[in-house]
Amino acid sequence: MDPAFPVNRVRQALLAWYDVHARVLPWRSGPGEAGRPDPYRVWLSEVMLQQTTTVHAAPYYAAFTARWPKVSDLAAAEDADVMAAWAGLGYYARARNMLKGARAVADDHGGVFPDTEDGLRALPGIGPYTAAAVAAIAFCQAANVVDGNVERVMARLFAVETPLPAARPELRRLAARFVSDDRPGDWAQALMDLGATICRPRSPSCDRCPVAFACAALASGDPARFPFKVAKAERPRRRGVVWVMIDGEGRVALERRPEKGLLGGMLGLPTSDWSDAPDETPPVAARWSDAGTVDHVFTHFALTLSVRVGRAEGGDWVWTDQAAAIDALPTVFAKALIASSRS
Ligand code: ADE
Repeated sequence: MDPAFPVNRVRQALLAWYDVHARVLPWRSGPGEAGRPDPYRVWLSEVMLQQTTTVHAAPYYAAFTARWPKVSDLAAAEDADVMAAWAGLGYYARARNMLKGARAVADDHGGVFPDTEDGLRALPGIGPYTAAAVAAIAFCQAANVVDGNVERVMARLFAVETPLPAARPELRRLAARFVSDDRPGDWAQALMDLGATICRPRSPSCDRCPVAFACAALASGDPARFPFKVAKAERPRRRGVVWVMIDGEGRVALERRPEKGLLGGMLGLPTSDWSDAPDETPPVAARWSDAGTVDHVFTHFALTLSVRVGRAEGGDWVWTDQAAAIDALPTVFAKALIASSRS
């Protein structure tokens, strides 16, 4: 670690850039703006923004805050309603953890979020990233907020050659050098905005970067080489079958998935196992027709689903209007339902 690195100049330059270029995002008050942002809204946005872009998250954020304007409203919501509203955001365990967190705030903290990183971290369902982000942004605490953007910016500023994921502790230590009691929330978000708009993973716009003067990766001539990464093993591909049963009123048969496991607690289409050799026995006897395949990528595997469509009535299914089902289903099943209607 270079003791001569101009930490303060970089801070000043990036905060000045943020004052002008901060992205306007629905959960933000502007840089330096009077009035603290509502911790519930900051927390909600940070949970949504993990592994999701701001553009994708924005309509979900609007829908959640319209329907559940306070943490106590979310805490009192039915699990199934929250899971359905989350459909399409992915990583459904996050939604369940979010509900746990909301209920703890409502039940054990009188509806008021703890105002320190440690207090937030002690809530169920809140991880280190979210605790640090909420502490910094909502409570002006000098917390070290490190997401993928921040890791990339640090890897480049210091030309860290240790590959990810092994470099994480080092990148976190580097990020900590910049954390200060002065505008910690703006600092965290300035780094994120820099990472999202300028210091992008591919083809960074170094000519517009306010901290290019200090960037060792740029000085090395090829900044996009950073962060180094261990080559990923290719995702295995699994296969499966989904059955789209439509009744005489045009409704589709859904089932609630078991709480444990992938897409746990969400509504789904009836499906085979997802494996190399799925069991293709349909759930009911019907005249099934083939509606092609859909592909979906999960974190640990890619999936090709064969879609079969048939007429059916009754049975122990959640019969749902098809348009409502497309909204309430996780993306993989929504894709299959859309494919079935094209066949
Ligand atoms: N990504 C996650 N949280 C963010 C925030 N508060 N601002 C910008 N990008 C983000």
